[in-house]
Amino acid sequence: MIQFRIDEELCIQCGECAEDCPAAVISMDEYPIITNEEGCYRCQHCLAICPTGAVSILGRDPEASTILDGNMPDPARLETLIKGRRSVRRYNKKDLDPGLIDELLDIASHSPTGVNAQAVLFTVVREGAVMKGLREEVMAELTKLNDEGKLPEGLVTQYIGMAVEAWKEAGKDIIFRDAPHLLITSAPQDSPCPVQDTHIALTTFQLMAHARGVGTLWDGMAMMAISLIPGLPGRLGIPEDHSIGYAMIFGEPAVEYHRTVQRGPASVNVVK
Ligand SMILES: Cc1cc2nc3c(=O)[nH]c(=O)nc-3n(C[C@H](O)[C@H](O)[C@H](O)COP(=O)(O)O)c2cc1C
Repeated sequence: MIQFRIDEELCIQCGECAEDCPAAVISMDEYPIITNEEGCYRCQHCLAICPTGAVSILGRDPEASTILDGNMPDPARLETLIKGRRSVRRYNKKDLDPGLIDELLDIASHSPTGVNAQAVLFTVVREGAVMKGLREEVMAELTKLNDEGKLPEGLVTQYIGMAVEAWKEAGKDIIFRDAPHLLITSAPQDSPCPVQDTHIALTTFQLMAHARGVGTLWDGMAMMAISLIPGLPGRLGIPEDHSIGYAMIFGEPAVEYHRTVQRGPASVNVVK
């Protein structure tokens, strides 16, 4: 049941909800009505577009939504956030406030998903103590594979070999960078766009994290470790039928950047 409700006292019969519905399941009678409940893909555009807050769907009270007018970020500051975000490879040995982690995950769950599947699973290490255990377990397994000559040939061996050496010689963690937290996104393989959805969710998480003073790093080394250690995704509670999107470490940065880097120009191919 999608619980589509119109407050007839508020509805001005503008028809915007019907016009904007991507599934075309709303028609205008005197007031908007749902013509095909099964076809609704729960995007809530009808609730979002209603100028008077007359539409409720999925049990959501439009009053509980954030009003957009006057509340959008200043573009120049958003640009600074995008250009000023850096990959953080040094972290304080301190857990983040669990409420902040929840807030970031909640915001990341607002990312777009193909056909509005909203099926991304956020697997998160919330405590530094758990991260320490995971780090030690992963490094022990990788050391064993390395020492037994069981790492596949090529770049992976080179990078993981380096990580194992750094761990053995100096207790240095270049896989998880001693970060207190880890986030892995995954989605059911049979969802419409698992690869894209999981990456977009992490991108959203990352930007919001940096806006809140939290450092992040897309962690390709962790991805290599996950692919090399049999059963690791299962041990982390990631369902077998999920595709893993990517891993991201995060935490309070032990580093401060003072200016943006300078990139560009963008590589552009103009179609004529
Ligand atoms: C998909 C992906 C995987 C990455 N994997 C690693 C990694 O395993 N270790 C690391 O130190 N940096 C990793 N990085 C960070 C990049 O090296 C970094 O984004 C790049 O050097 C630019 O620096 P910036 O992010 O500070 O702009 C990764 C970045 C991406 C997007």
